[in-house]
Amino acid sequence: MSKTLITSALPYVNGVPHLGHMVGCLLPSDVYARFMRMMGNEVLYIAGTDEHGTPSEVGAAKEGMPVEEYCNKYHERHKKTYDDFELSFDCFGRTSSEANKEMTYHIFEQLDKNGYIEERTIKQVYSVDDERFLPDRYITGTCPHCGYDKARGDQCENCTKVLEPTDLINPRSTISGSTNLEVRETKHLFLKLPMLEKRLDEWVKSREPFWPDVAYSIAQKWLKEGLQERCITRDLKWGFPVNKPGFEDKVFYVWFDAPIGYIGITKQWADASGKSWKDWWLDAKDVNYVQFMGKDNVPFHSISFPATLLGTDEGWTFVDNLKGMSYLTYEGGKFSKSEKRGIFAEDAVTEYPADYWRYWLMSNAPEGSDSSFSFDLFASVVNKDLNGVLGNFVSRVLKMTASKIGEEVPAGGEDTEMEEALVKVLQERVNDYFKYMKELEFRKALNELRAIWVEGNNYISTAEPWTVIKENPERAAAILRTCINLIRIFAILSAPIMPKISEEMLNLVGLSLKDVKSIENFNVQEEIKALQPGTKFTVGETLFERITPERIAELKDKYGSSK
Ligand code: MF3
Ligand code: ZN
Repeated sequence: MSKTLITSALPYVNGVPHLGHMVGCLLPSDVYARFMRMMGNEVLYIAGTDEHGTPSEVGAAKEGMPVEEYCNKYHERHKKTYDDFELSFDCFGRTSSEANKEMTYHIFEQLDKNGYIEERTIKQVYSVDDERFLPDRYITGTCPHCGYDKARGDQCENCTKVLEPTDLINPRSTISGSTNLEVRETKHLFLKLPMLEKRLDEWVKSREPFWPDVAYSIAQKWLKEGLQERCITRDLKWGFPVNKPGFEDKVFYVWFDAPIGYIGITKQWADASGKSWKDWWLDAKDVNYVQFMGKDNVPFHSISFPATLLGTDEGWTFVDNLKGMSYLTYEGGKFSKSEKRGIFAEDAVTEYPADYWRYWLMSNAPEGSDSSFSFDLFASVVNKDLNGVLGNFVSRVLKMTASKIGEEVPAGGEDTEMEEALVKVLQERVNDYFKYMKELEFRKALNELRAIWVEGNNYISTAEPWTVIKENPERAAAILRTCINLIRIFAILSAPIMPKISEEMLNLVGLSLKDVKSIENFNVQEEIKALQPGTKFTVGETLFERITPERIAELKDKYGSSK
């Protein structure tokens, strides 16, 4: 059994996740974690809220509560949303935890000891009207590289270049809009990335065969441009106070302690469960580590964080594979809380079961290029794929068998070359489905899954048990037995995507996901015989609700449609 460590980028605690956040890292990481568990791997799946930094301070001030309380409140809200979306974390922790503080201090001390930390006096933007230093994200201005006029002081979201706030042209405070900004001198600590460049370059090159092209080319582009020293401290109150004499009034930069949070949260998990975090993170040669994140996060995960770990000269676990997702748009525009446009994850699950969203989002995952959500597309996929193909197959098979034969898997009859052909084509598709899942090619994987369901429909349409039963009831029994077994197979294969529906489908034939053994060597020939004649089943309710045009109109109205 091999060990797979899976992390999703840690969502900022302030603000609530919309569908774009869900599909941007959290949901694909869950699908992968579920798949890898079913393949028989020992999986540790970690995520949590990213809590430090100015957004939390500003958010807390707006709501008139202490920042700790504010973070508690939103942490719980994130957690509930992800539970509702059936995300199966082993631990959903927090970057503000004691465990993470310990890790951050330790890693910083190692870096300092090894000579990778440098003190510098820098000029930083101070907002006179806001009476505070403005952190990078809170300065808006024009990107010096591409001219985008809403670039943030830490990164241009348009060209993904990482910026220093003083690089911006025409800067203004994002908090108040004030342009009454002064540049003041302040002392900070820098991570000497150029010293690590060579080792980093070798390491990134060694990753080429494993990383998807998008991620690899972003990392390469960064290295080609050459690395700069990176400031890892800030003049803020909310964060881990820097553990170095002379810097006690500063805190670590949120992007320094956030990725360390993967380790810190593993320690939270270990402390709570009596397990060992080191088994996963230190000299853990048997661990395969897969990260999920939005495209804009790739530089931090492929360059800054690995450099941080490299500089400690300890045997940390480095990312083996890394999936950077593009963006999801909403009805042709951006999701926007302030403009009340777009459906947020916590509302989505009040409209339709999580599995509907999970299936839609994964089959339209923004891989390679952006993809776009609309209620029309959502309804069409739910109606066609889920209701039309999968749901219809299940109810048709079970109803027909119940009414013509009885509520148990029929006995008797022989297989023909029709079943032989079905097994062959299904085995090919299953192999491809698994291959794409392993390669983190989710759209392709979901295409195969859908195609597998379609094979079931093709089979029953060609085999025509409803006609055959008049002349040859034995043969009809064999066909329906095959079909009921297909329901079990479809349920198992769909489980990483739609865990609840899969469980429901298995319940219909008296099983549960817990009974499913490793699918690593999934053999269709055997699986299609798994349910023995005489096994009881229940017809059950319709699995999926059809979404009517009236409902679509209602949803568009409620969540805002195109401008
Ligand atoms: N909070 C960041 C974002 O949402 C992601 C942080 S990933 C981490 O973009 F690894 F650094 F935590
Ligand atoms: Zn730019």
